[in-house]
Formats: sequence, C-alpha cells, structure tokens
Amino acid sequence: MTKWYDNAIIYQVYPRSFQDSNNDGLGDLRGVIQRLDYIKALGVNTIWLNPVFTSPQVDNGYDVSNYYTIDPKFGDMATMTELIDKAHALGLHVLLDFVLNHTSDKHPWFQDALKSPNSLFRDYYIWEKTTNGLPPDNWGSFFGGSVWAEHPSEPGSYYFHLFDQHMPDLNWKNPEVREAMIEVAKFWVEKGVDGLRLDAFIHIAKGNLHQNYPTDSDEPVVAEPMFANLPNVVTYLQEFVQELRKINPNLYILGEGASADPNLAALYTRPVAGSALCDAIVSFRNLPKQARPQTKVEQQWHLRQQEKLDLAALPDSIVTWQTVLAQTTEPVLYFSNHDMPRMATVYADPEAQEQSLKTLATMLYLQKGAPIIYYGEELGLTNVELTRFAAFQDNTVAALKDQVPAAEQSAVLKDLSQTHKTAARQVMPWDDTPNQGFSKHEPWLRVKGKQTSVAEQEQDSDSVLNFYRSLLRLKQTALFMKGDFCLLNSPAKTIVFTRELNGKVGLVLTNLSAQSVAVSLPDLSLGKPELAVGHWQITDSELQLAPWSSAVFMTEHFDN
Ligand code: BGC
Repeated sequence: MTKWYDNAIIYQVYPRSFQDSNNDGLGDLRGVIQRLDYIKALGVNTIWLNPVFTSPQVDNGYDVSNYYTIDPKFGDMATMTELIDKAHALGLHVLLDFVLNHTSDKHPWFQDALKSPNSLFRDYYIWEKTTNGLPPDNWGSFFGGSVWAEHPSEPGSYYFHLFDQHMPDLNWKNPEVREAMIEVAKFWVEKGVDGLRLDAFIHIAKGNLHQNYPTDSDEPVVAEPMFANLPNVVTYLQEFVQELRKINPNLYILGEGASADPNLAALYTRPVAGSALCDAIVSFRNLPKQARPQTKVEQQWHLRQQEKLDLAALPDSIVTWQTVLAQTTEPVLYFSNHDMPRMATVYADPEAQEQSLKTLATMLYLQKGAPIIYYGEELGLTNVELTRFAAFQDNTVAALKDQVPAAEQSAVLKDLSQTHKTAARQVMPWDDTPNQGFSKHEPWLRVKGKQTSVAEQEQDSDSVLNFYRSLLRLKQTALFMKGDFCLLNSPAKTIVFTRELNGKVGLVLTNLSAQSVAVSLPDLSLGKPELAVGHWQITDSELQLAPWSSAVFMTEHFDN
C-alpha cells in the first residue's frame, strides 16, 4: 500500500536559526510559519524540525525538561498547532525530533530521582555504585569524559550519560520508562504531527555496565559496541512504534542510526507484525568519506581532520545501500545536517563552487530514496567563521582557549570553523539587510562577514537556489520517486545511473571531478537534457562532460 512518505522530500529546519519573528536574536516557530511558502516553493513536501520542547538548551534542545510543552524561546503550543495546520494546508508534512535516549537533568523525573535512592523515579535512569572512587567502567561519552557522573551528594553513586552530563540516559529496561515515553509520543501524534525523527534511538539498550572496553588508554573511550545497536533496541522499538501506529498507521518513523551500516538499516526497517520498525534510517555512514591530509594546526592541536568524498568507494557504496535496503525501504539521501560541517565546506570544489554543488546534488537526490536538505544548503551556504572558542558551544573546544597561545588562536579558530557542527548552524540569510532578514536583533550565533542570501539568489536564474528548485521538480516526478535504480559502469569519478518506470527511463550522468571526461552512451538518440549543469556535448556514442558537469536525459527503455 502506498504511503505519503513513499514520496517524502524532507527539508530540515533548525528552528533557532531559521527566522526570528520576535526579534530576540533566536529563531522561533512563528518564524517558521512566516517562511512556509518559501519551503513549499523549494519543492519539498516534509519539514523536520529540530527539538522545540522545553529545555535548558545545554544541547540546543536535545536536553528536554518537559516533553509536553514548547520552549517559550520558540513559542507556545498554540503556535505549534498553527504551524502544523498551516503546513498541512500547504501540503507539507511535519516531523518532530523526538529525544528518547535521555532527558535533561532538569526534567522532573531526574530531579526527583536525585532526591533519594528510594525515589519512584530513581529507576527511570541508569545508576551504578562503586566503592573504589572510580566510575563503574571506562566508557567515554560522545561529548568528552566519562559516561558516568557522580551524584552530587551520594559519593560512589553514578548516573549514566552518553552525551552531556546534564543529559542523563533513560533506563529503557524499566517498563515504566517505556510506557512513559510512549505516552509522550502519543500526545504529539494526537496533535497531528506526521512523523517522528527518533533521536539516537540505537543507544536505548546498554551492555554490561561493569565491563571495561579494551583499550591501552587511561582515558575513557567511546565504546560503541557496549551501547549501540544491541539486540534490545529492536525489542523496545517494536513496542514503541506499534503503540503509535495504533493511533496513526501512516506515522512516519525516521530513525537516527548514526553508526548503522546498510545491514543494520535493513534490520531496523524490516516489517515486524505487519508494520516496519522504522520507515527509514539516517545513517552517518551513508557516504564513503576519506580524511584529508591533516593541516599543521590540526596536527598540533589534535583537531578533527576535514573529510571529503571517497570517490573510488562511492559506486560500491551507492549500490550496496540501494540493494541491501531494497527489500525493506529506500536510502535516505543527504549530505549534511546540524551535527556535521556543511556540504559546501566539505564536498564542494572551491575552484568550481556552485557548479560542483549542483552536480553533487544531481548525483545524490535523483537516486532512489528520500532526500533531506539541510536548511541553507539550497543556497550553497558554507560553514561560517566563528571568532570565539566559546561560540562553538563545545566543552572540548572551550578548553582550547587557555591552551592555544594568543598568536595561534586565529588559525585554530579558522580551522575549527571548517570542521565543527556549530559553524554549520548559522542563521538563514534571507536578504542583504544588516542581520540578513533573520532578525532585527543580533543573531544568537555571531559570524564574521555576510553570506549569499535568498533575495540575491532569487534574482539570478543560474543560482544554486533556482537549480535546487528545478532539481526537486524533477525529483517529484513518479519516475524519480518510484523508478527502479540501476548504476551503470562509468569512468572513475563519474556516477551514471538510470531510473526506470513503465518503459520510461531517466539517464543521469555526473562528472564529480575537475577534469573533462567522456562517458560512453547507450545506443539511443538523446534529445536535449531535462536538466544540465556546466558543459556537455554528444559526439558519436559518447557524452563529453566538462569538469563538474552533469546532464539528465529522458528516454525509452534500453539494454545496457
Ligand atoms: C543529535 C545531536 C544531539 C544528540 C543528543 C543526536 O544524534 O542529532 O545533535 O547532540 O543526538 O541528543
């Protein structure tokens, strides 16, 4: 049976950065409402909102202190309902970011749990005791340091936090926790949201908490096998989604499985008792990446290396994702999100910035699967330059301020701005007024310089924005939504594939390099391309593609 989300084209809105309607420097829900027409006109049909529940904002909303209320910084319940209604009226679906692995330490459950070992909520979280003055194991948190934090007034009693210490993990072993989280989710499904992005769901089951992870280091290590993709994740997930689908059988469950490979993604999307666990999986392993050689600054200060696409591994990776998922779902097609540096910073060719972005988008979004476009990507936004260590909102980065000599700080900040997620969370540049139409107030994230804007790109028929609109118009057609996918043999650094439906074929040819290339063509008479980037020319049975050029042809069935 066809579901609405079989045709999902998703736009990710980071609410604090999208549009500020009350001029406090922080984007809000009313701001999103004001920009719904823009989102619709882009050619997407679904919005994913990063978390807007009440939160102390230690991790920009992923630390929830009340799941039943909207954070006043973003608006209120009436505005949320209005957003859902207005989006629906425009034919847009709304996905909420549902944080189920942990809460904020300010959540009343945790506050109560802290009061006494006998609290009714103590067992909502994961506690362990030790008598040797050390945490129960050597596992490291994703945000640095140990996953264990000591109770402020009970020495030797530790609670577990995979992310920040102000974000204690829920104990999903406890049936009351499972029930409580189902209740919260039901509340939102009944409010009319069309789907949930399940944040970090692959971590809701943990391994033996007293087993150290093998390492030579004295420091805690991120011990993924101990707390990712364990068998009980599926058990808990199954119960959760089954209850929600009783209310809305068409609810879209988009699971964030950061470390999922294609097999795990297939496992999480397989049908159980007649309905899929998740409908699609966002994996951070969706594209093969290669670390660039370390810069001097990165070497000296142990900074993260920049990554680029591993073009040699790309064809295999595409085929694997398409094939392994074919029985259960379709791949999620995306380049970046709020946890990564921007696509234009990582993958674009600086010598052919716009053209490379257009060709990359053609290569990815016309494949079979659901695109997710990170707000501002459609303008070709790059990471912004942040000029203070504190601006990165990251404890490890903040510590550098006292370590890096003054003379070297600007080089370190520049490098960090290229690789860090916070530098990808800048406010949306709508026009060329002082705060770029985002707000009349200084935006929450101060950046150096101005960025290209929507207003500027609207005027230019050749802009990245106008190209994305054309590309998504093509993506919306039945051929590119439903057509069978087949990768064709092609020269190195090119990706060539077909989509085929009822005898109609879309032939997509993309050159992902700075060199011209000749791709041999099937024996067909091809007319004008439906969409093209850069320069192309057909000679005999070859298509010559200039650097970073691409072309999409419509044709009839052929044998390749
Ligand atoms: C979100 C992150 C967040 C983390 C903890 C993730 O996977 O995408 O932004 O920090 O979950 O909630």
